[in-house]
Amino acid sequence: MDFAIQVEDLTKVYRENSTEVVAVNGVSLSIQRGEVVGIMGPSGSGKTTLLSMFGCILKPTAGSIKIYGEEVTNLSDKELPFVRRKYFGFIFQGFNLFQPLSALENVRLPLEIKGMSKKEAGALSINLLEKVNLKERAYFLPRNLSGGEKQRVAIARALAGNPLIILADEPTGNLDHKSGELVVKTLRELVMINNASAVIVTHDSRIFHSLDRVFYMEDGKIRA
Ligand SMILES: Nc1ncnc2c1ncn2[C@@H]1O[C@H](COP(=O)(O)OP(=O)(O)O)[C@@H](O)[C@H]1O
Ligand SMILES: [Mg+2]
Repeated sequence: MDFAIQVEDLTKVYRENSTEVVAVNGVSLSIQRGEVVGIMGPSGSGKTTLLSMFGCILKPTAGSIKIYGEEVTNLSDKELPFVRRKYFGFIFQGFNLFQPLSALENVRLPLEIKGMSKKEAGALSINLLEKVNLKERAYFLPRNLSGGEKQRVAIARALAGNPLIILADEPTGNLDHKSGELVVKTLRELVMINNASAVIVTHDSRIFHSLDRVFYMEDGKIRA
């Protein structure tokens, strides 16, 4: 069996002054290659923290993480960015678009950094913006885009690198029905084409039919 993500007894404790918050509490699970799974649960239950540890953005306090069989738990801060770039596409809240760059440039930049020619990267980026229905906004700056449009730029950017694992934190949160469907359809397509995987944190019941499996989180734990 090909596993994209395997975590065991994963725990994250945030320490602020003398307060401790156990945000994720001993989570063990595996996500197979090709799977699209959902994570649901109330606000504060640890979903974003768990997703951030999957993506090697946040180091666990205890437990272990393997990505495609590769032990990443104890990698240094220097090594982690390489793992992130090798495996993941992130669709996180707040979008993190570069404000001085157009929608097109935001999608194109990571491709150029990876070494793709400007021409090739530009063509691919336009193609992706078209997929998320934003071709006519390609030259807009983020400040002139609506929340939903910015979200779709972030999605196009995440998909541009053909990631093996897509991590999405409430990707349809700001989107109307039609855009939401489009996003899920696009994610599904990418997963199929690349035999990739996706982990989607969502409250959106419209997404359910597109998920292979759903985990429910409560107080830092996956409900059995
Ligand atoms: N950087 C942080 N420092 C301290 N506590 C945090 C931090 N991030 C999240 N928390 C706390 O950890 C718990 C889980 O948060 P989070 O993972 O964001 O949950 P969710 O995404 O399900 O809303 C919450 O109690 C939250 O307040
Ligand atoms: Mg969250």
